[in-house]
Amino acid sequence: MKPPPDGDADGTFGPNAQGAPEGFIMAMTLDLSRWQFGITTVFHFMFVPLTIGLALLLAIMQTAAHRTRKDAERHDKWDHMTRFWRRLFLINFAVGVVTGIVQEFQFGMNWSVYSRYVGSVFGAPLAVEALLAFFLESTFLGIWIFGKGRVSARVHLASIWLVSIGTMLSALFILAANAWMQHPVGYKVVGNRAVMTNFWAVMTNSTLIGSFLHVLFSALVTSTMLILGVSAWHLLKDRRAGHTPQQVFATSAKLALVVGAVAIVATMFFGDNQARIMERQQPMKMAAAEAIYNTQNGASFSLLTIGDLSGNPIFQIRLPHMLSVLADNNWDGPVQGINQIQAKEVAKYGPGNYKPILWVTYWTFRIMVGCGILMLLLLAEGLWLMRRRRLEQSAWFLRFSVFAIALPFIANTTGWIFTEMGRQPWVVYGLLKTSQAVSHIGTGYVVTSLVGFTAIYSLLAAIDFGLMARFARGEGETDDHDDEPEPEPGDNRVPALVY
Ligand code: HEM
Repeated sequence: MKPPPDGDADGTFGPNAQGAPEGFIMAMTLDLSRWQFGITTVFHFMFVPLTIGLALLLAIMQTAAHRTRKDAERHDKWDHMTRFWRRLFLINFAVGVVTGIVQEFQFGMNWSVYSRYVGSVFGAPLAVEALLAFFLESTFLGIWIFGKGRVSARVHLASIWLVSIGTMLSALFILAANAWMQHPVGYKVVGNRAVMTNFWAVMTNSTLIGSFLHVLFSALVTSTMLILGVSAWHLLKDRRAGHTPQQVFATSAKLALVVGAVAIVATMFFGDNQARIMERQQPMKMAAAEAIYNTQNGASFSLLTIGDLSGNPIFQIRLPHMLSVLADNNWDGPVQGINQIQAKEVAKYGPGNYKPILWVTYWTFRIMVGCGILMLLLLAEGLWLMRRRRLEQSAWFLRFSVFAIALPFIANTTGWIFTEMGRQPWVVYGLLKTSQAVSHIGTGYVVTSLVGFTAIYSLLAAIDFGLMARFARGEGETDDHDDEPEPEPGDNRVPALVY
């Protein structure tokens, strides 16, 4: 298949209305559009994993509250936990939805050639996401927020489980679209468009399965690290005041440690699995992540590489054979090098630079993995302290846990930057280059939307951070709808927020 040529959709180039060369304008539009997409996506993905992870943990907490309903003390503890963490979940959910809506507009605004190209493939998973997963999430979220005391306890409990399933299904369908960009399957190219021929192939894409499990468990890691950090802050505060640590936060921290430990091991396991898939499907991304310049058998794993601006190594520290073991499960397995892959891609796709920006892929991969290792160590130490019944007394561990709230967010952000920038110059691997996908609009429009979105998102971030911090500190408890007396049976008052 021949993708549309660089330049206008019809392949023509020419001076624009101001007389500036069209190529220069398009390059500016492209760069600014990429910045805009990067900024808004990174921001949006601050909320998504927290929503997915917190929904599941809230479902677990509420189930525990339900199952202990005959034991007043234990029931109160789990019920209090559910009510405390749900405030953070709801703030996060609201901002996540708002920022997600903008993403879809951007496809039409800045990436219209891409939208036309992938529209037929993306239409189905994105429509199912909106109609099935998002409707499931929002409908049952409404029942969960306003239904307490109005629907039976079982229906109320079922509603948070359905919200949790909805968040995971949403992730599955969105990731199906992304996985298709990493590894296109189940399509044929008709003219200048990809047309889906097999929905099942799109939904069982090996890239999707790897990435869904990695993202799902990293979402659980993100929410457990937040719960652990906020609980640690409360336990420290109570220690300072000489109070008995609150049962609610001690139990929250323990739940976070157990679920978090399982989730971080699973995240790493599926991340490693993804690396193997990547070596087969996008060998350039793997070589770039590891700064492997020439094909090697028994390739070493780079702990540190310093290179010059053209990407050649100047200084390296490497672990012998480790990369072959990671990528190929084989001590002497071959790992392709950047220079050989570049030559192959030129032969296959024509002249061009098929290398991503090496220092970005190299460092983002390392930062993601490094954060993962730090979290693994922290969670393992927490489990050890818990076993020895010294968790609440270990001030240094609690302090470190508060700071460690940032780690999963850094790992998620660098994970996505690595995934997306490592695929460059392709937006759809092997089919459509990013430079071919951008809308043919003036730079002024993109500057305006870039500045506008960045300003609005920064404001939203400040509001969100302020609200999350306020509620995490335990302020504003009386605002909670749950604190209102439960309605008597037969009381049909309409909740205040229905319209
Ligand atoms: C040993 C640890 C880890 C390994 C080996 C690993 C491996 C990978 C690989 C290979 C990719 C790129 C996949 C692709 O481009 O096709 C990736 C992406 C990603 N990683 Fe990790 N990862 C690790 C830890 C983590 C942690 C701790 C988090 C977050 C808590 C995380 C979050 C992400 C995210 C959000 C993405 C982008 C989505 C995706 O492509 O799946 N990773 N990881």
